[in-house]
Amino acid sequence: MPCSLLILNGPNLNLLGTRERDIYGQETLEEIISRCSAYADKAGITLEARQSNHEGDLVEWIQQARGVHQGIVLNAGAYTHTSVAIRDAIAAVDMPVIEVHLSNIYRREEFRHVSLISPVAEGGIYGLGAQGYLLAIEALAARFALKN
Ligand code: DQA
Repeated sequence: MPCSLLILNGPNLNLLGTRERDIYGQETLEEIISRCSAYADKAGITLEARQSNHEGDLVEWIQQARGVHQGIVLNAGAYTHTSVAIRDAIAAVDMPVIEVHLSNIYRREEFRHVSLISPVAEGGIYGLGAQGYLLAIEALAARFALKN
């Protein structure tokens, strides 16, 4: 079975490239995803990427990933710090989720220091910019290869 991964991005990440560029960098989400796709292609991984500003969309996509994808790369944006619903969806589907943040959330405002996602995630990457998504794909692919 080939490895298929889902990349989910939450609120305001559609504005990357214009949004607080000193914090989040110059790249648009489209550019980041196309880098991820090129990386995945080379590694023989299928990638699906989705973004939404709505919490319920993210919950549904996590639920629907079960049996379709082997892992999820998730940048839940601000919902990271608030969403019990996303946390519960991850716990419910029982599949590996790597939490990604472009910025170092622990070097920023105190309200960003708490992640409701981290306790149910397989692992996390923060502060490494767009490279974090590639590292997360690599980690999930390696995990998949070990199991198959
Ligand atoms: C973010 C960090 C969050 O605190 C913030 O709300 C975001 C982006 C990041 O990628 O650094 O929207 O998840």
